[in-house]
Amino acid sequence: MMQDQKNIIWHSHPINRASRETLHGHQGIVLWFTGLSGSGKSTIAGSVEEKLYQLGISSYLLDGDNLRHGLCRDLGFDKPDRYENIRRVGEVAKLMVDAGLIVLTALISPYRSERQMVREMLTEEKFLEIFVDTPFAICEARDPKGLYQKARSGTVRYFTGINSEYQIPIQPEMRLNGEYKVSHLSEQVLELLRSKNILTT
Ligand code: ADX
Repeated sequence: MMQDQKNIIWHSHPINRASRETLHGHQGIVLWFTGLSGSGKSTIAGSVEEKLYQLGISSYLLDGDNLRHGLCRDLGFDKPDRYENIRRVGEVAKLMVDAGLIVLTALISPYRSERQMVREMLTEEKFLEIFVDTPFAICEARDPKGLYQKARSGTVRYFTGINSEYQIPIQPEMRLNGEYKVSHLSEQVLELLRSKNILTT
């Protein structure tokens, strides 16, 4: 494989990220939501995307559960598969930033080293880590997909928070208190984008 890669040469095309950003009228960037299952990542990301849409921003939401129906359908939840899941989604997010989009990702992404890997793939200023900090007990009580119950009864393996770990972000760009209302939390994310001059309205 390494032998073959030696013969692959990067081709620079006439239209680049800067051109696409000009066309969209804004920068491309990744908002990487991380947190436990049931913490509210997808719902908050969806609400942020709705607000961006109303402001005329081009975006795409990469949702862990949805990606596991297609791009990542061959992957499970042990450590190597979770690594590959994050690697693939990181690469897709990177392409979408190159396309000039505001990319929202909603994946548990439980390991620090893997979130760091994506941060480095994208370079610092194109990656904003948003920790959806919802207490474990609340996520378990919400149990929107009934998976906590299944994990407790032993029918789901490697379940995050029960028999697989979640490593809390140390210095995320934003921490959201997942006990607050979704509309309030998505507004906080918009404020973050304004403070970084990604949104001007
Ligand atoms: S990640 O850990 O690899 O980032 P991802 O966000 O793609 O996870 O997928 C998590 C979703 O898969 C959860 O929201 C849940 O609906 C479902 N799921 C199924 N089995 C598991 C499991 N063992 N651990 C966590 N989530 C699981």
